[in-house]
Amino acid sequence: MGSPGVGIVGLGAAVPERVVSNRELERMVDTSDQWIVERTGIRCRHLAGPGETASSLALRASREALEAAGTDPGEIDLVMVATITPDRPFPATACLLQQELGARRAAAFDLQAACSGFIYGLSVAREFVARGTYRRVLVVGVDILSRIVDWRDRSTCVLMGDGAGAAVVAPVPEGYGFLGLHLGANGEGAPLLFLPAGGSLHPPTLGTVASGMHHLRMNGREVFRFAVRVMGDAASRALEAAGLGFSDVDLYVPHQANYRIIEASARLFGIPMDKVMVNIDRYGNTSAASVPLALYEAEKEGRIERGKVVLAVAFGAGLTWGAVVLRWY
Ligand code: ACO
Repeated sequence: MGSPGVGIVGLGAAVPERVVSNRELERMVDTSDQWIVERTGIRCRHLAGPGETASSLALRASREALEAAGTDPGEIDLVMVATITPDRPFPATACLLQQELGARRAAAFDLQAACSGFIYGLSVAREFVARGTYRRVLVVGVDILSRIVDWRDRSTCVLMGDGAGAAVVAPVPEGYGFLGLHLGANGEGAPLLFLPAGGSLHPPTLGTVASGMHHLRMNGREVFRFAVRVMGDAASRALEAAGLGFSDVDLYVPHQANYRIIEASARLFGIPMDKVMVNIDRYGNTSAASVPLALYEAEKEGRIERGKVVLAVAFGAGLTWGAVVLRWY
């Protein structure tokens, strides 16, 4: 898959200013800092304030990614936004972002694969660039889950955070960039994690709001079980496509949903924790933003540099999952 080379040439990230600690949540729901830290690894999360939206966080992350890539907005051919919390059901948040950025000649659309959205987006971008259809694609993962969680439901509200991450995908020298990828989905698992109302099945009414159907619902225990299994499958297949094994991985960047899931998957892969990127303690589960935010921080911390093999793996509602293997450029 290495030829022609296609890779990530610039990353950006943005989180809301407001940081909410577990102690603050103790005052809102029947929970404790100890329970949250022990069961999830989360210590705090950033939550959007009034006026902060998917498009506003996406804009900040995208500007930084474009700058890092040395790319002018006018050079972007396609803007893709992976999100389950768009500014509005339509038009696409990608179109709002295209306008705000001034990416005038870019096509734009949203992509929905929940927490796997950024990996799905990278895969689509890779195909377009590898075929020569486009030269520069902007992929954004952004979610403001705080707007769809039930702040009275302790089993979900303590897990989530808000954020955005962006990447510019473009040609890179042969041997660098994407070496392997794998995407998967299983709609049988749709009832494990979903938003009941707001779509064509249950359009919003006073009744849907009164019964809390505009809030995210999740069977956490079942999602946990599924997560470790599909992460293993996705990672093995992406590595196989790359002609590599787990021992070749320099940094494993998993979706940050629960520290115990991260640890269990690393154990399954035989990857020591010092080769695993973890920032869930500071951000919680930021859904589509989780993987790009982790990649961004790993690069800033010098844990990813040219030539390193990076394995990024995600899973989410759908159910969906995906993995990419990159030789960093
Ligand atoms: N504070 C205190 N107690 C709590 C809390 C809380 N915040 N939440 C649940 N509990 C209680 C439960 O009520 C239960 O009590 P009980 O035994 O008296 O019934 C007890 O803690 C244990 O609950 P479990 O659900 O078994 O706890 P578990 O160890 O499974 O952890 C968790 C729950 C954190 C949700 C875990 O299952 C998980 O992380 N699942 C995966 C979630 C995930 O990855 N989602 C990703 C997708 S997000 C997306 O795509 C948008």
